[in-house]
Amino acid sequence: MATDLEHELAELLDVESFAPEAAFRDRALIADDRVHREAAEDPAGWWLKQAKALSWFREPTVALDDADPPFYKWFTDGTLNASVNCLDRHVEAGRGDRVAFHWRGEEGEVRDVTYADLLADVQRCANALKAHGIGKGDVVGIFLPMIPEVVVAMLACARIGAIHNVVFGGFSAESVRERMEFSAAKALITVDGARRKGRTAAIKAQVDAVGMPVRTTFVVRHTGIECPMGDGDVWWHEALAAADPVCPPEELEAEHPLYILYSSGSTAKPKGILHTTGGYLTQVAWTHRHVFDLKPDEDVYWCSADVGWVTGHSYIVYGPLANGCTSVMFEGAPDYPDKDVWWKLCAELGVTIFYTAPTAIRACMKWGEQYPARHDLSSLRLLGTVGEPINPKAWLWYHKVIGGGRCPIVDTWWQTETGAIMITTLPGAQAAKPGSAGTPLPGIAARVVDDAGEEVPRDTQGYLTLTRPWPSMLRTLYKDDERYVATYWEKYGPRTYFVGDAARQDADGYFWVIGRVDDVLNVSGHRMSTAEIESAIVSHPKVAEAAVIGQSDETTGQSVTAFVTLEGNLEGDEALEAEIREHVAQRIGKLARPKRIIWSDDLPKTRSGKIMRRLLRDIAEGRELGDVTTLRDPDVMSRLEARVKELQAEDGA
Ligand code: WTA
Repeated sequence: MATDLEHELAELLDVESFAPEAAFRDRALIADDRVHREAAEDPAGWWLKQAKALSWFREPTVALDDADPPFYKWFTDGTLNASVNCLDRHVEAGRGDRVAFHWRGEEGEVRDVTYADLLADVQRCANALKAHGIGKGDVVGIFLPMIPEVVVAMLACARIGAIHNVVFGGFSAESVRERMEFSAAKALITVDGARRKGRTAAIKAQVDAVGMPVRTTFVVRHTGIECPMGDGDVWWHEALAAADPVCPPEELEAEHPLYILYSSGSTAKPKGILHTTGGYLTQVAWTHRHVFDLKPDEDVYWCSADVGWVTGHSYIVYGPLANGCTSVMFEGAPDYPDKDVWWKLCAELGVTIFYTAPTAIRACMKWGEQYPARHDLSSLRLLGTVGEPINPKAWLWYHKVIGGGRCPIVDTWWQTETGAIMITTLPGAQAAKPGSAGTPLPGIAARVVDDAGEEVPRDTQGYLTLTRPWPSMLRTLYKDDERYVATYWEKYGPRTYFVGDAARQDADGYFWVIGRVDDVLNVSGHRMSTAEIESAIVSHPKVAEAAVIGQSDETTGQSVTAFVTLEGNLEGDEALEAEIREHVAQRIGKLARPKRIIWSDDLPKTRSGKIMRRLLRDIAEGRELGDVTTLRDPDVMSRLEARVKELQAEDGA
């Protein structure tokens, strides 16, 4: 029987758009379309004006340098330091005692870290890095859980002009090694152990087992578990204690690299997305303030992402700190010790702005509204989502159950490559439509086009493109300009950025993003490449060949399904399935493990040997098969179809 809530949500499904309530709009930073209009007149000049909200050593006078597309530059004659913008200027303005992070540990530990605390630690850490021979332009790897030290490490790099390369804690040590190697990192900052739902993983031991190609490894003492220390290993706390407490910031050009973040593309080799300082910080700070309607003196902001993804870089670290606000940083998972832990923290800390992923909302929905109902969520005033399209049902649940029907929701579309939010609604000025991200932000231009680059009519699906450079755009792929051009600028030329998403624009100009058009999967809002997972599976000695596809999944959006052909006459069984899953966890990380493995004696291939993933997707989703005559062996398909039906029958039983 349907509950009252289900009835209510079903009725709301007919509501096309939700305008901001007067109570919100009256106090909103932006409450009409003037900013959009002003920016449209001179987008680059408008961004230059927004850049002045930062603190510069030398203020820029040049906005965009587009002399050598697609190698765009912003604010080239300006100099600044990101750590000064995130810390010093707030402390100098007398706000050193403000809490930057209410850090909460998995077992309920409490650490409130102020801006002054961060500045002190960042200076010591910066000096410790210098003492170990790290300077401007050197790459430093960071492999840490959600603890305040991760912020200190990132900003210490920024202070001396070193480039940080953070690897998400859910990746395997093998992935870390690969990323350290690709980026020629000089040092790695990691941890003794990391906690997850009551268990502790021995991170340093795992890192040692793989061996890192770095000179120095700094180790944060966090869980206190036994931790092997060898040559070149340095305890973080000892290095900081020994370091000089004062480290003047480097004066850096706006285009000085700030960080590399590896992300999945359509080949097995991850892409080292490079962001620089002035443009990135300008757009991240502007969007964090205006998309979230931030009042730094009043708000308590919480972005539930992990700092190891771009969302964490831009909207846990750089945006919130540049704006001097108070955030929540939570070490744990949303269902430990119980499924109400997020809402308990929201109530305890008076969270006003909450930013999370659709997959998390769908999980909460499945657990039931009794968990949020245990807590008073009346402090919330604005909600946000990111990472994948949100289905209207989940949007409405979020609006109703978490937001009490009163909080606007901003659905923010962007990518690791874009660095900051690009398409969304300004919550006091624009109505939200459940399922649509909204319109390009001021200063941003997007278009839906066909294969030839012609704009398609409204309400027609096509390729999403960005047609004007923006300050926080990636500058290149680290040490791989060629791949940068080939991936993003070859299809439509050096002035139209190819996003890799399918989308349509409605009659009101709102964008509806449909999903990826390349071989990139989106599992729980995490980007993964089919090629990368395939290559991990094939590296298992018993596997001859593998093809990976994304299957729709009610909770995670997509899930990983692998079609696997074994060597010789080997037969697949449950034990081997577990072995392969574990093998993928070792090579890439647990998040990449296939949910399903389907044994097959051959894979559908074209005569030139290319695997037809489209056909595998059709089989897996139970769709009518298209033309199979181009296949080398058309019989493969009927055998596979029979096998999948068998499996589905077993699942159903
Ligand atoms: C998808 C995460 C629909 C999209 C910040 C994009 C979205 C990819 C949305 C980037 C959204 C992100 N609506 N789709 N609001 N946000 N995406 O690099 O396919 O991890 O290309 O960056 O996620 O993922 P990435």
